[in-house]
Amino acid sequence: MIDPIRIDVTAGTRTSPILIGEGLSDDLGTLLNSHGIGSRRFIVSNPAVWRLHGERLRTALGGGDPILLPDGERFKNLQAVSKIYEPLIRANADRGSTIIAVGGGVVGDTAGFAAATFLRGIALVHVPTTLLAQVDSSIGGKVGVNHALGKNLIGAFHQPVLVVIDPALLTTLPRREFRSGLYEVVKYGVISSRSLFDRLDADVTSLFAKDGRALVPAIVESCRIKADVVSKDERESGLRRILNYGHTVGHALEAVTNYRRFRHGEAIALGMLAAADLAAVRGALAERERQALANLITKLGPLPSVADLSIPGIIEAIRRDKKVVDGRLHFVIAIEIGATMTVDDVTEDELRGVLVRLGMKT
Ligand SMILES: NC(=O)c1ccc[n+]([C@@H]2O[C@H](COP(=O)([O-])OP(=O)(O)OC[C@H]3O[C@@H](n4cnc5c(N)ncnc54)[C@H](O)[C@@H]3O)[C@@H](O)[C@H]2O)c1
Ligand SMILES: [Zn+2]
Repeated sequence: MIDPIRIDVTAGTRTSPILIGEGLSDDLGTLLNSHGIGSRRFIVSNPAVWRLHGERLRTALGGGDPILLPDGERFKNLQAVSKIYEPLIRANADRGSTIIAVGGGVVGDTAGFAAATFLRGIALVHVPTTLLAQVDSSIGGKVGVNHALGKNLIGAFHQPVLVVIDPALLTTLPRREFRSGLYEVVKYGVISSRSLFDRLDADVTSLFAKDGRALVPAIVESCRIKADVVSKDERESGLRRILNYGHTVGHALEAVTNYRRFRHGEAIALGMLAAADLAAVRGALAERERQALANLITKLGPLPSVADLSIPGIIEAIRRDKKVVDGRLHFVIAIEIGATMTVDDVTEDELRGVLVRLGMKT
């Protein structure tokens, strides 16, 4: 068995270990046993992921049939959660049972919400299989599903008892999904680590080749940053908001296009460009830093067009978003690569200027 890298999230009195290592999923059964996880285990996944990696995981776990959820963001809803409850109830799952979520953020959030609510909470293990899930959604304890009237409106905080991250599972991930996760890695660099940012910039080719020598450190460093922020502020009363860098405009872009045009990370990439532009115009971020971010984002590949999106529509979506507190817009800006601040006096005119320069319709 390989020696994994371990990072702990400490929230309240409990510790959630994150284990990272190439090939680690082959040792999943052993890892669960050595972390004291009970033998009643319910795997939740989706058909696409299970087709690619199910054999390997079944072997590692010593058998067991998964509960398969339909694939896609539109199925991240309460109906999918019910699909998990039912087999658990039929199998007389008890409070000592564990849900093992094997998949991207959709599976993790849905299975996580089932774990948070079944019998008022049973143990949850994440085995994330997308880059986005490995660096972001499996860490921090936010679980939940969408409502027909809005995204992520139904949810809970439920820290996993273990997160097992195997970068080797990413070899099958389509390039666009991989890029979507990379933008969140870029975000961690911008908010907290110049060295991560510089390494990404230097390693773009090796990253796309999914070379472990570049990929594993990028995942480890991202997990460290997220774990550190969450450990200090689990419930997002302050510090955790820096993780929303690029998400003010990003979420609005996703919302006005009904979550169809952009992969999440792509919208965040555009949101980071907007935030950097806002900061540069205010004189809070040096122009060469803004340019460095824009260059890296360009290097990672093309982004969907925003030319047909109307600025009033975006501003309206930002207003509706959770980031407006008492009518004032909270905006995380970078003041250099690796450091941020929050401003709460962003005017609509300023925002309009940013969106015009991003190429949107007035
Ligand atoms: N809980 C949190 O803190 C948090 C944070 C960020 C995002 N999220 C949520 O995460 C979701 C997005 O997650 P995502 O980007 O992982 O999308 P996803 O779960 O939809 O996965 C993307 C696609 O990749 C496929 N896939 C997964 N693993 C694969 C693999 N190894 N090889 C080939 N294909 C694979 C999936 O079947 C799916 O079609 C959103 O619902 C978002 O709200 C949650
Ligand atoms: Zn995000």
